[in-house]
Parts: sequence; C-alpha cells; structure tokens
Amino acid sequence: MPITAVKDNCWVLETRNTAYALGIDDKLRTPLNWYWGPKLPRRKDYRPPAPRWWHLNGTPDGLPEEYPAWGGLRFLECCLKAEFHEGTRDVILAFAGADIAGEELQIRLKDEVFPLIVTLHYRVRPDQDIIERWATFKNESDDPILIDRAFSAQWAVPDRLPCRLTHLDGQWADECHPTRDWLTQGARVIESRRITSGSHHFPFFALDRGDATEHAGQVWFGALAWSGNWKLIAEVTDGARTRASIGLNDFDFRWKLTPGETFTTPVAYGGYTSAGFGAAIRCLHDLVRDHVLPTKHLTRKVLYNSWEITTFHVNEAQQIELAKTAADMGVELFVVDDGWFHNRENTKGGLGDWWPDETKFPHGLQPLIKAVNDLGMDFGLWVEPEMVSFTSDLYRQHPDWILHYPNRPLKDNSADPLPRREKDQLILNLARTDVQDYLIALLDKLLTENNIRFIKWDMNRHPNEAGWPQAAELGRDPKEVWTRYVLGLYRIWETLRAKHPQVVFQSCQSGGGRADLGMLHVADQVWASDNSEPLSRLKIQDGFSHAIPACVIEAWVTEQNAKLLPLDFRFHVSMSGVLGVGGATSKWSSEQRDQAKKLIIQYKQLRHVIHEGDLYRLRSPSESPFSAHLYVAKDKSEAVLFAFYTQLSWPFPFPQLPLMGLDPDSLYEVEGEPAPRSGAAWQHDGLQLTFKNEISSTMKHIRKV
Ligand code: GLA
Repeated sequence: MPITAVKDNCWVLETRNTAYALGIDDKLRTPLNWYWGPKLPRRKDYRPPAPRWWHLNGTPDGLPEEYPAWGGLRFLECCLKAEFHEGTRDVILAFAGADIAGEELQIRLKDEVFPLIVTLHYRVRPDQDIIERWATFKNESDDPILIDRAFSAQWAVPDRLPCRLTHLDGQWADECHPTRDWLTQGARVIESRRITSGSHHFPFFALDRGDATEHAGQVWFGALAWSGNWKLIAEVTDGARTRASIGLNDFDFRWKLTPGETFTTPVAYGGYTSAGFGAAIRCLHDLVRDHVLPTKHLTRKVLYNSWEITTFHVNEAQQIELAKTAADMGVELFVVDDGWFHNRENTKGGLGDWWPDETKFPHGLQPLIKAVNDLGMDFGLWVEPEMVSFTSDLYRQHPDWILHYPNRPLKDNSADPLPRREKDQLILNLARTDVQDYLIALLDKLLTENNIRFIKWDMNRHPNEAGWPQAAELGRDPKEVWTRYVLGLYRIWETLRAKHPQVVFQSCQSGGGRADLGMLHVADQVWASDNSEPLSRLKIQDGFSHAIPACVIEAWVTEQNAKLLPLDFRFHVSMSGVLGVGGATSKWSSEQRDQAKKLIIQYKQLRHVIHEGDLYRLRSPSESPFSAHLYVAKDKSEAVLFAFYTQLSWPFPFPQLPLMGLDPDSLYEVEGEPAPRSGAAWQHDGLQLTFKNEISSTMKHIRKV
C-alpha cells in the first residue's frame, strides 16, 4: 500500500525508494510535513517535527506547513490567499477530515468561519518516486469568494542546511540552461507572465545541499503541469528553512469562486532521490512517459519540414519535389509548415483564414497529401489557431473574439510609434467557449476532410492587452482570463485528440515556449527551439533533458552551421531526440543523401532505446567540450551512446567515459571495441574515446552478449 496511516490523522506516502510523511498538528489543526527522504524501515520511524521549530511568539512560520493559507500569524509565502464577502481577507483553515482512495490521499480543511472547503490531494506514483499534489477549493456559501493566490503545493526541504536551487532559464532560441545558485534568506521568484509557460524559465526546480552531482547526492525536485502563467517561490526564512512553493502565478490573477463552485489547481510533482540530479531526471522522464503523455510508447516518426529553407514560400510542386527526396531518404512523415493558407505571404497576414492559398495550392491540399501518401509517408500540417491577423476575414467577422481592452485603441504596429504587439497578430480569447467551439469545429473539419496524421500547433505571441470585456456579463472576474485561456486550450486539444486519435500533436511556441508537463498531457512531442544550430542545440536539448525525455524533443537536421559541422555530427545531435530533417536536401550531394539514408536506418533500429531507455548524462555539453549521453534500455540488454567533441583548439585530453546504468555482472560489447567487458568494467574502468578532429561525434550501439 503506498499510503498508510501511521496513527490518527498522520500518514506516510511511500514510493519505491522514498517516503513522504505528514500529519495534522494538534495546535495548528492543519497538516505539517514530517519527513521527505529515503524510505525508513519502520512506520514508527516517521515522527512529527520537533517542537523546537516553534518560534518564540508562536508563529507557525517556522513550521513545515503543507499548505499555509494567508491568515493568522503567518508572514511568509503562502499557497492560498482569498477574500470573503464584506472584505475579510484572511483564511483560517482547520482539519475537517481525510480519506484514502487507492493511491490518493485527500485532506479536507475548512475555514473556521466561512464555508470554504480546501481539499489537499496527494497521489503517489510509486514506480517513479514521485508525489503529485494539487488542491481544490469549494465555495459552500451563498456569496462569492475571491481567490487571489492558488498555488498547487508548498514543498519543505528537511533540516536547516543551506540549499542550492537548480532551475532552467533561457530565452527565445536559447532555451533551458541549467542554472545553479545558492539560496539566501528571502524569496527567489521564477515565473512566467506570458500566458504560456515560456522560454525564459521552465516550470521545474531542484534543490540540493550543495554537494549533489549528476550521479550522487540528495536532491529534492519538482515540476508543474501548467502551460500558462506560473510561479515558483524558493524561500529561505529566518532559521534557514527552505521551501519551494509552486502554482498559478498570482500576478494579475483572480478567480471569483461563485456559490457551489469548485476550483482545481494544476498538479505539482515532487520527488526525492539520494542518487544525484541524473536520478531525479530519470524519475521525471518515467513520469512523463508512464503517466503524463496521452499515448504511451508511441513510435515517433522521422519527419521532414522545409520551414527553414522555404519559409512562407511554399507551393504544391516544390513540396512534392521535397517529399520525393525525403521519402527516398527514409523519412516517414512529411510536414508542411507556415505559408500554406490564404494570404500568408509573411507574418502580417492570413492567420485565422485557414484554407489553402489559391495561388500556392490551386487544387487545395489533396494533391499534395495524395502524393505524400503515395510515397509511403504520413502528411502533417502547421497551424497557429490561437492567432488572427488584422487583415483576416475572421478578425473582420469577430473583432470581439480577441484579447483586448475596449478603451485602448487597436492600431497595427506600422501606425504606432511604439509597437505594442509582437508580429502584428492578435490573440483569440480562448477563455471564451464560443471561440473554443469555433476552433474545435474548424480543426475537426480540417482533420476529417484531409488525411492529416500530424499537427504542428504553433503559438507566436504573448498578450500585453489581456482584456476579456465579456467577463462581467458572465459574472466572472476579467483576471480569470489567464487561467481560463489555458483551460480552454486544453479543452480544444483534448476534444480534437478524442475525435482524431490517429493524429500526432506537436506543441510549438516560437520553439520551446510551451513544452511543459501540462502541455505534455495533450501533446505527443514538442519543438524545443527555433535554434537548430547543432552546437547550440546540444546544450538546449541537454537543458530540456532535466525535465522531459528524448521521445518528446523534436530535433531537425538543418543547414545551420552546415559548412563547419559534418553531416553525421548534425544527425547525431538530432538523433538524440525525435529525428527530423529540415535541410535543403535537394541540394545535398548523392554521397550526403546516402549517408543520411544510412543514419536514418540506424536511428530507426535504435530509437526505441533512445526514447524509452534511461538517460545517463555522462558529460554535459554545458560544462565540457567533450560531452556524452548514454541511453540504457530498461531491461539493460542494450544501450546507445552519443558522444560529441566540440573543441576548436588542440590538444584536449579525453577522459575515460564511465558507462553507467549497465548490469554490472553481464558482458557487453561496445560497437568498435575489440572485446566485450562486464558492465562493472565499462562503468568503473570506462570507455576510452578519442577524436582525431575537433567537431566530431560518434554513436555506438552497446549490446549484452
Ligand atoms: C515558429 C516556429 C517555427 C516555424 C515558424 C513559422 O517560429 O517555432 O518552427 O513554424 O513559427 O512561422
């Protein structure tokens, strides 16, 4: 049983290797965290926090509360902040009961005066060493309750030792750099205010004592399943207690909880490991593959996409020619990107009018789809349904469907000395159910009438005028738009997926701006970055690997840096994700095409290991010019090693690579090595790789003999 009561109103949640214990405090009448670490031998080993944690004046701030609400003697970051009618702005919660249902524990708390029920949900994922947490708020009164902060969880790190925070920061075309800082007293905030989870920070964190490495040491980590505005507050308080609070961003947030209504926060994931950052990411990868992704163990097809070489200038004949070359190389899925629809010559037009452009595709998409299918490939299409252009019919017909403030005049950027919107496009308000229904019907028709097996769903703007003028008529608070937009987006994707289960969906937000675990509940894969230059891409993919597995990280071989980098290097980078090709293949020599063909065959033979195996990041490209990732099959029967040498100057000593994760007692042969050795030898004595030339790479298949 993953959840057991240690005694009355005290529980321990056990995963394969870890335990999370909590109990209702007699004085506070709300839950305190007791323990979060390796599983202990006896239930009695779990104890409530020592009373020394009480502050002299009795504030609970020094205690590891599970879900502090703003009220009482609390002055630190809280999870819930609400306002009741007549202006009462504090919440005093008290325990009202608990239930265990299978792998889920529910703890009910109730405000001592107002009928607000807060339920804390804990679900155990035993095999992934993860606890899922979220909260629901139910208004049982006759008056609305205004929610001003709705976090999913607060995670307290045990002890009072200093902590380091690892997070993933970046920007457009340069996503997901692991950054590691010591936390000091005060709050460190990491967030998105862009209606997407964003490319500036990924909703992920890891905390350690400063001594964890990739392969050893204690790490407490987490992520949030949300694709809109989110916030992480890592707070060190007096007395050196560290907590991480995560949830919906409270910036410009409000939810008017009407009588009888229930609000549910997104899910926050948390895990502990004593085996370093590498073990933490393997837990998250397993979680994504086993519990997050909508289709388990999907074989991701090798795709071709001409965006980087043709941009908006696509047409039927040119795409058919590219499709022929792609099919000949072994590509399985041919995707037409931006530019295919009515009046789409550049970023200024077309969005909203989703029918094939009359000059580029005079016979519609059917002839191209048929040609692609006849070549033995699936057909895929780019769409950006959340957007409309100023010049589109859709905007002319429904000017009120966009996010806007009615009193703030809407000019296009050319008429405005200070451009107020990215790319001159407007954002449909997905908080509106009529807009959601319209997009569902539109895409349903597109998918029903055409044999489309892959949708690349893009989103290339952030709102700066997030107005929802109709909110008042509906009795809602306009600030709910940030949350309702994302819920609307999920509803559209879920409905389309249910109607068209044969379609694979990719999430793109100007690259990797919406690649979070919320999106991965509805998306099969993500476009990780608009930067396809392989040296940058190595680091970006390594960054994303902190939270998401290779099976969702799409990577294309393009022309970026093609003069300097050999074709196999460019392929190896993309083969360590979901392989795609986006280069000017018609200009490749026959030798290059033959080489690509061979690499694609090799990838198809091994992608099950890369996508489903355990990742061991032997050396990070962010730290060393010699980097290596090893993917080990779950049954340890085989593995795939990718190693890259990017140094431009010479000499560089190549250290032995310890091949981790193999069965120590089995014999393994490594492609190109003279004799098999035990897994233990490959780990402890290592593999000696050397590269004669800078900018070289290798891929090696490792097999148990
Ligand atoms: C975004 C995407 C690109 C491409 C363009 C098309 O930038 O990330 O891959 O689809 O839009 O406009």
